[in-house]
Amino acid sequence: MKILTKEIDTPGLTGIEVYEKTLDGYQSLKKAFEKKPEEIVEMVKASGLRGRGGAGFPTGLKWSFLAKDVFPRYLACNADESEPGTCKDRELMEKNPHLLIEGMILCSYACRINTAYCYLRGEFRHIQRVFDKAIEEAYAKGYLGKNILGSGFDLEMYSHLGAGAYICGEESALLSSLEGCRGEPRLKPPFPAVEGLYSKPTIVNNVETLCVVPFIVNEGAEAYAAIGTEKSKGTKLISVSGHVNKPGNYEVPMGTPTSVIINEHAGGIRNGNKLKAFIPGGSSVPMLPADKVDVPYDYESIAEAGSMLGSGALIVMDDTTNVVAETLRLAYFYMHESCGKCTPCREGTRWMYQLLSQIEQGNGKPDQVELLDDICDNMSFKCFCPLGDAAVGPVASSIKYFREDYEELIADAKAGV
Ligand SMILES: Cc1cc2nc3c(=O)[nH]c(=O)nc-3n(C[C@H](O)[C@H](O)[C@H](O)COP(=O)(O)O)c2cc1C
Ligand code: SF4
Repeated sequence: MKILTKEIDTPGLTGIEVYEKTLDGYQSLKKAFEKKPEEIVEMVKASGLRGRGGAGFPTGLKWSFLAKDVFPRYLACNADESEPGTCKDRELMEKNPHLLIEGMILCSYACRINTAYCYLRGEFRHIQRVFDKAIEEAYAKGYLGKNILGSGFDLEMYSHLGAGAYICGEESALLSSLEGCRGEPRLKPPFPAVEGLYSKPTIVNNVETLCVVPFIVNEGAEAYAAIGTEKSKGTKLISVSGHVNKPGNYEVPMGTPTSVIINEHAGGIRNGNKLKAFIPGGSSVPMLPADKVDVPYDYESIAEAGSMLGSGALIVMDDTTNVVAETLRLAYFYMHESCGKCTPCREGTRWMYQLLSQIEQGNGKPDQVELLDDICDNMSFKCFCPLGDAAVGPVASSIKYFREDYEELIADAKAGV
């Protein structure tokens, strides 16, 4: 069952004519304009769609939280996608930009928004070109601009390129960056739906989330809710990377066993090796050991197994992996990307990186694993934004499940090997 990636490899799909012909493109607008905006919000609520940017918050509910009668309102599509291992949004935008534009128009109509932005990470200049061309085509066909298809609804759409910082994917930092300020997170509440861009109500949604909306409007909320599990509805686009034979993006119904994604879709572990560990939801969530690989890929089951679905990036490590070295690479990323606004994250990420480097390079001392664990405790839930907790995820879980990898390196160091 494919919703997001249906016909995605059709030649010329980035062009509006092919999109209209192949995927009945923009037909959902006619259906939507026959309904009141509130009815579309109710449809999205009934579909059970949850945000695909990381937190899994119910999309329709978010839309209904917009501050009442405050205008103008804005839509900011989150196309930052800077999390290691995650590359699903870029494929959707590169190959099928009109699907996102259609989803953004539907969201804007449902939420009575007349200005929509798409915030892309700095490195996505080539995708911005594809997206801007698609926006131009949509204006020319009357799907954007004034009085869209004679409905009386107006919408202007713009793309915006960030400067390439992971923190700019966090919704409040994204809005600061869009305003032209330094991309640092803001205190919440107020949440963006109440006070967002230019202090006005703003919806921030992920690319994949918005790309689902045309299906819901075309096929109905029940059709979407019929796919997946009881609480995790629909399909999920999963970026599989690491030690598999066929890394790539795979769309599967929620609840598909993780082992099926690795072994059937991604072609199994490379060189016939065995699985050692996997990170189910991008670099910001705890890793899990191989014996949990049958966990169904949905929000609840992965949480029960001790991790999170996050952005939906499955990072696979085979049994040749030195988990300490892998954790060090992730710790470097978080140290580099910490915005520096709060002390536990600014200092903690650097300290974690230094300890991990020492251990990995064979200069570790026996009490350093406890010290690392202690730093994790001192950072957890004590940072200003979730990036601090994200930095803890890989380190704390690597110690929990693979302490022997640390102990071996430290024992060798003591022995002078
Ligand atoms: C450090 C950090 C980075 C994030 N990066 C992204 C990102 O690249 N794309 C994204 O959609 N959400 C990202 N998020 C989540 C957003 O803050 C927000 O929850 C999301 O865009 C909401 O959209 P959704 O409801 O459609 O999931 C990030 C969050 C944090 C804390
Ligand atoms: S947790 Fe890290 S990224 Fe978030 S505000 Fe603090 S220093 Fe910045």
